[in-house]
Amino acid sequence: MGEPILRQVARSVGDAEFGSTSLQTLISDLIDTMHAADGAGLSAPQIFESVAVCVLEVERNPRYPAFPRVPLLVLVNPVVEPIDGSGLIQLYEGCLSVPGIRGRVPRPYRVRLRARTPTGDAIDRIVEGVEAAIVQHEVDHLYGRLFVDHAESTTLTFLEEYKRYVAPLEAVSS
Ligand code: NI
Repeated sequence: MGEPILRQVARSVGDAEFGSTSLQTLISDLIDTMHAADGAGLSAPQIFESVAVCVLEVERNPRYPAFPRVPLLVLVNPVVEPIDGSGLIQLYEGCLSVPGIRGRVPRPYRVRLRARTPTGDAIDRIVEGVEAAIVQHEVDHLYGRLFVDHAESTTLTFLEEYKRYVAPLEAVSS
């Protein structure tokens, strides 16, 4: 947090770049970095590439033990649109670019996700719950937004205090 690239709007991937080696390399780097850091997702600006690409995946994540499994999703040029009347999900979020801090972020429970795959195929689906929250968190990165911009300020907590006071309550709902 504070690194200017995290506040820039990432450029879209151009038609000629789909299926390219450079795009695939970027995606491999994102996935490797996400795995190495136990992230639930990662966006290209977080590895100093201001390009509209992000990845997400949850497989029994030690940083987010209460999260359900979310299969690997690779999104190029993603756009999310809230589904009206779907209510809110309010998760304590963290971010590899905001280390050591969690905060509760209200987000639409269900969103329409449109994106392209790395080879250029269209993705158009409804996502909800934890998956929708992670998608929105990662897509925010591509617009220069961080979770602390939306977090309820009085819920901001250091990781140690999060583990002591909040995690025991969240564990019940998994
Ligand atoms: Ni993040």
